This record gives sequence, structure tokens and C-alpha cells, in this order.
Amino acid sequence: MNFHILTLFPEMVMNGLNTSIVGRAINNQLLTVEAINIRDFAENKHNRVDDYTYGGGAGMLMQAGPVYGAYQSVVEKTGKTPRVIYLSPQGQTFSQSMAEEFAKEEELVFLCGHYEGIDERVLEEIVTDYVSIGDYVLTGGELPAMVMIDAISRLIPGVLHNDTSAEFESFQDNLLEYPQYTRPEEWHGKKVPEILMSGHHANVEKWRREQSVIRTAQRRPDLLEKAVLTEKEKELAKKYLPTE
Ligand code: ADE
Repeated sequence: MNFHILTLFPEMVMNGLNTSIVGRAINNQLLTVEAINIRDFAENKHNRVDDYTYGGGAGMLMQAGPVYGAYQSVVEKTGKTPRVIYLSPQGQTFSQSMAEEFAKEEELVFLCGHYEGIDERVLEEIVTDYVSIGDYVLTGGELPAMVMIDAISRLIPGVLHNDTSAEFESFQDNLLEYPQYTRPEEWHGKKVPEILMSGHHANVEKWRREQSVIRTAQRRPDLLEKAVLTEKEKELAKKYLPTE
């Protein structure tokens, strides 16, 4: 997977993504991350890439030309016309299933807006996907792009050392993860649940599944609609649904 980020703040995304698990994946050549500075495609000697909006109103808008130039540089470099994701509160809300879909691509371009946004005409020409990371407004698309790249990267085989762990975590089957414990056996007077010390694998699995159902009912009951539960599990969930 090759990620290409069109941004006015290349150091922000590169510093963020060069660390931790994504950084290790880059070092291990499982993926590449490249930041393309939109300012390098400015069309005037002052390197300006923004201007006032036609029709008036507060704030500046990123101009079409430099954004298009940055995009074209990716097309020329890759010889492909990859999907272009524009990060915007107007987009579809990012989800695990979208991460899974994007993880199948060879190349992905992220377009990060700033100021009051980007001239509509270049968006019409290059953007294939409008994505929001939630119903709140950020100062730019860099953090959302980093969020998406993190979520997509961990689905790429080899990025997490444990190939199975991406599958079993929260959201994979619309259930939250069960509680987990490590040493010491007792901490602040709280003991690790007995069943986890039993070494009885089937019982442990049964307990974990029940805990996932209970936890989802308590914390994210909205997810239960999409979860596939047995009749017994549905009964269990019902007992733990929050009361208004
Ligand atoms: N740009 C500003 N706010 C955003 C959000 N919530 N999601 C994606 N891009 C954004």
C-alpha cells in the first residue's frame, strides 16, 4: 500500500506517521507514506495557494491550481489514477468497514484542506471519496488523514505482528472487546476473574464472548442491531441495556 498525502503541512503528517506501529511498517517496507507539499505547486512568486472567496464571506479558500498540480504529480509518479479521499466534515463518517474497503487499494491519495476549504472545481475533478472522521470541525484534514491511515495500515498483512489480532478486536463483528488483565493477580484489592486463571480454554472463550455481549449492551447498544447473536445472547444483552 502506498499512501500519498496532499497537504500544506508535510512535517505534521510525516512526524506523526513515522513513529509507532505505522513507522515500523514503513521501515519493514510493508507500506510507504509520502507527503506532497501543495505549496510546491503554487502558481505565483509569493508561493500563495489561497485567495478570497467569490461572493464574499469570511476566510480564504485554497485555489484549484496548486491542488491539481499536487494531484497530477502523484498520477505521473505512479502511472495510475488512484482513489482520492477528501477529508471533510461533509463526508461519509469513517468506519471499520470503510477501512477494510480502502485496505484493498494499491495506492490512496488523501487531500487535506485548510482555511475555509478548497475551490469546488478541483474537488469535482479529482475527488472520489468524501470522508469525515466524526461530527466535529477540525482546523484541517491532516489529523483525519492520519487517523484513516492508522486504521487502514493495521489491516495490511504483516503490520500487526499477530495476524489474528486485527480480526478479533472491537467492531469486527459489531461487538466490543472483552476486558483483559495482566499481572499482578491482585491490584488495589481487585482480583483477576477466577475463570481466566483456570486454564480451561473453552470456558475462557465462553466467558469472553459473554463479556463482549454485556459490554456492547452497556456501552454501545447501537452496535447490537448489526451484531449476529444467538437467542441466548440476545437475552443476556437485554439484561444489560441502559435504562433511560
Ligand atoms: N476537516 C475538518 N474537520 C474534519 C472532520 N471532522 N473530518 C474530516 N475532515 C475534517
